[in-house]
Amino acid sequence: MNSFEFNKIFAAVLVAGITAMFAGFVAENVIHAHALEKDAVEIEGVESSGGGVAVEKLAEPVLHLVASADVEKGKKLSKACASCHSFEKGGPVKTGPTLWGVVGSSKGGTSGFGYSSGMMEMGGKWSYADLNKFLWKPKKFVSGTKMNFIGLKKPEDRAAMIAWLRTLSDSPKALPGDSEIAAEQADLVLPEVLAEKVEDAVEMIEEIAEEAADVTPHAGDEVQEPIAATPTKKPVIEEAP
Ligand code: HEC
Repeated sequence: MNSFEFNKIFAAVLVAGITAMFAGFVAENVIHAHALEKDAVEIEGVESSGGGVAVEKLAEPVLHLVASADVEKGKKLSKACASCHSFEKGGPVKTGPTLWGVVGSSKGGTSGFGYSSGMMEMGGKWSYADLNKFLWKPKKFVSGTKMNFIGLKKPEDRAAMIAWLRTLSDSPKALPGDSEIAAEQADLVLPEVLAEKVEDAVEMIEEIAEEAADVTPHAGDEVQEPIAATPTKKPVIEEAP
């Protein structure tokens, strides 16, 4: 072997070593295969769980169901609310405020009722979209709410309840329009789709980082002497007879 060839081989081994070191550096420092303490990117509707990414459940959209919802079913479901709420015009305040005319009215708007500070801080009016979120999980929508009610899990039940609440008015609010329906979809469906994509991407990066870590020599690892750089015996090439 002449020295030029030896240099070529040595350079190749050196480059391979540097590449492996660099891959290890990337795996350990640039790509964090271990759990992140904090989310690198915070997306509404995406909850971090033990460093990974989990899709937080959001309420299902229901605005598209309200126009054709079963109003009578909503009325029946209101039995679950009646221990705390009156529904007739001028009805009494009970454990909760009266709900006559609540759709489109100001949040925390019944005078003479002592609302929670969480409710008073909400501000704005009871839109269909907000009623859906509140009725899904009251405590999640209004932190520290006084409404001790688990919520209506089924989207059809919330749609029916909202459709019935709408009728409790001298001039019921117009049914949800197309743009309102689209806005609700964007609010509640897009984050979940996005979160799933992020979850897939994180999984992929973790796999790549694991693979990179596998091929990287770590400090303390037994490193094999590069064969090419330390020829001990001359290869014996048998001549064909
Ligand atoms: C255990 C009692 C209780 C039950 C059951 C209950 N609520 Fe309530 N509700 C409350 C209280 C208390 C508040 C005021 C919440 C606050 O101040 O944070 C409230 C507030 C509300 C509001 C907001 C009113 C406003 O003036 O801003 C709506 C809408 C509502 N409830 C709907 C319902 C519906 C619909 C049901 C049944 C599916 C229901 N609630 C069941 C106690 C209850």
